[in-house]
Amino acid sequence: MLKQEIEDGEVSLADPAFRADVLRGFGSSPRAIPARWFYDRRGSELFEAITDLPEYYPTRTETAILRSACAEVATLAGEGRAVVEFGSGSSTKTPILLGAVAPAAYVPIDISGDFLRDSSAQLAAAFPGLPVLPVEADFMRPIPLPTQVADLPKLGFFPGSTIGNMIPHAATDLLRAMKASLGEGAMLLIGMDRIKDEHVLTAAYDDAQGVTAAFNLNLLERINRELGGTIPVDKFRHRAVWNDDRARIEMHLEALEAVSFTIEGRGFEMAAGETIHTENSHKFGARDARILLRAGGWTPIAEWTDPDGLFAVILAEAQPARLAP
Ligand code: AVJ
Repeated sequence: MLKQEIEDGEVSLADPAFRADVLRGFGSSPRAIPARWFYDRRGSELFEAITDLPEYYPTRTETAILRSACAEVATLAGEGRAVVEFGSGSSTKTPILLGAVAPAAYVPIDISGDFLRDSSAQLAAAFPGLPVLPVEADFMRPIPLPTQVADLPKLGFFPGSTIGNMIPHAATDLLRAMKASLGEGAMLLIGMDRIKDEHVLTAAYDDAQGVTAAFNLNLLERINRELGGTIPVDKFRHRAVWNDDRARIEMHLEALEAVSFTIEGRGFEMAAGETIHTENSHKFGARDARILLRAGGWTPIAEWTDPDGLFAVILAEAQPARLAP
């Protein structure tokens, strides 16, 4: 009876898309789960903690770049655009941009309504008079924007090097979808993490305090919580590896010994040393970044980096349709 009640509760908690991705991901070879499922409440808290780690340079570096570049961004983009952020917005980065570009409206887009409501309320309080128009949607597809911003030129904002979570094929799809969503005359301000010393990269994704390990392992705990899984989480370890051929950090969860478990009643077995691939974080040389943007329909017009060249923020404009040789 009690078990049934718990199961009922957990069944109603589960997002059907999460369930489908997990069952498909655990059943395929190699096993892989889309990285977006890291971000339940606990996962988002752990990610926040990651951004403060001494080894995790991207957040503080990008924030510093934005602070020093935002006046130039404002000059290049002009005032009165609608800023459209892909992702629900960070409490430090977004105000830097909004404070500089004097937008006519702010439109945050996120699949998670919870985070969207929280961050929208915070930003509306910080910028009285600015229309904040959240859109709950999956930004991987073209999105109809609120009618209030239909006639305004757009400035897309995609910080954090989140573009690096996608393989190049999906990244170009996303860039094109953004271009379609933002319309004619749009600009895009995008953060892209740079290729650098391998040890700096692996340390950023395998910190001494084990916060990134907890972030990765939380995915298994989330599966147990929401999909009634029996995964023995303590039999797994976090791994972060640099894949030089593909210019990306990969995060995996490795079984320390042979394990068997169930997820929603389905049985799975993993041998010792077998992994589940949980995240890609692509890194970009300066030219790589520009080629990717162009492939996705955007022309880079300015870029800013930190003194050590760890991270780049690039401003691009939507390519007009024109002939090229
Ligand atoms: C938020 C996706 C950009 O890839 O660096 C941090 C996520 N994963 N540590 C990244 C992440 C492990 C982060 N992104």
